[in-house]
Amino acid sequence: MNKLSFTHFTYLPMSMRVLFTMVLLVFGTGYLMAMIQVWVTHVGLDGKPFLTAKDLMIAYGGNKEGTKLESALRGPMASMLPAEKREVIFTWLHNGSKADEFTAKVDPILKEHCVMCHSPSVNPHLPDLTNHEGVMKVAAVDTGMTVPTLVRVSHIHLFSITFIFFITGFIFTHAYIQPVWVKCLAIAVPFLTILTDVGSWYLTKIWEPFAWVVIGSGALMGLSFAFMWLTSMYQLWFYTLPENVAEEEGKLPGVYR
Ligand code: HEC
Repeated sequence: MNKLSFTHFTYLPMSMRVLFTMVLLVFGTGYLMAMIQVWVTHVGLDGKPFLTAKDLMIAYGGNKEGTKLESALRGPMASMLPAEKREVIFTWLHNGSKADEFTAKVDPILKEHCVMCHSPSVNPHLPDLTNHEGVMKVAAVDTGMTVPTLVRVSHIHLFSITFIFFITGFIFTHAYIQPVWVKCLAIAVPFLTILTDVGSWYLTKIWEPFAWVVIGSGALMGLSFAFMWLTSMYQLWFYTLPENVAEEEGKLPGVYR
């Protein structure tokens, strides 16, 4: 009745168990890096020092009251200049981004703190802050990530996440979990949540509360990854199958090491 219809880690050759372990170690590190990346690119967009739903709403849907320049200066670019100079730029933005004030007050600050990176000769992919025209592009109302950017990020995510969770899930199929539906659920959840996650990036542009679906999807995906990772690692090296299950299988643990 308890007969295993899969091969438990215990019966895999040592070489395969080493392979699985190494893959899990690198994926685990990769997952941590991805978490840090999400944090640093989104935190502070709303001016608060935590990652909030509002941060995601601004990143995807834009900030109706703000501009890209302001979002960047409250977020990833905040440390590039002293606070009082930041205020000068905010005041200029809030007073209607006038050209004469730009030359007198804002341009010198950008020349001192920003153009060493934000110049077409240094990095053509960053907003050009060396002249008025370039600055006005990021001083326009922030509409968030553009659809072409979202499409680019989506296809990379859809392919790479499927790849990662196929491998992680495949390793995890060798674990002994009862009842079986729990095992199946852990395997299925990441694939379902990548769809709701990516879908909600676009929907957040239309209706901001979808940011909560982005957060919920990410949390579920993370839980599922953690569960599969920990269970696999534990059962790879420290677990003995319940005796009745091992006997039914007709093999003794360790025979095929
Ligand atoms: C050390 C290099 C460096 C300096 C100095 C720097 N930036 Fe940036 N900036 C970057 C990089 C890299 C990015 C793109 C990656 C990112 O968004 O974090 C960026 C992105 C931006 C963006 C675009 C954000 C978006 O949503 O597209 C703005 C606006 C910006 N910076 C403004 C500034 C301002 C204003 C200053 C000066 C106070 C400044 N930066 C100083 C490197 C720099």
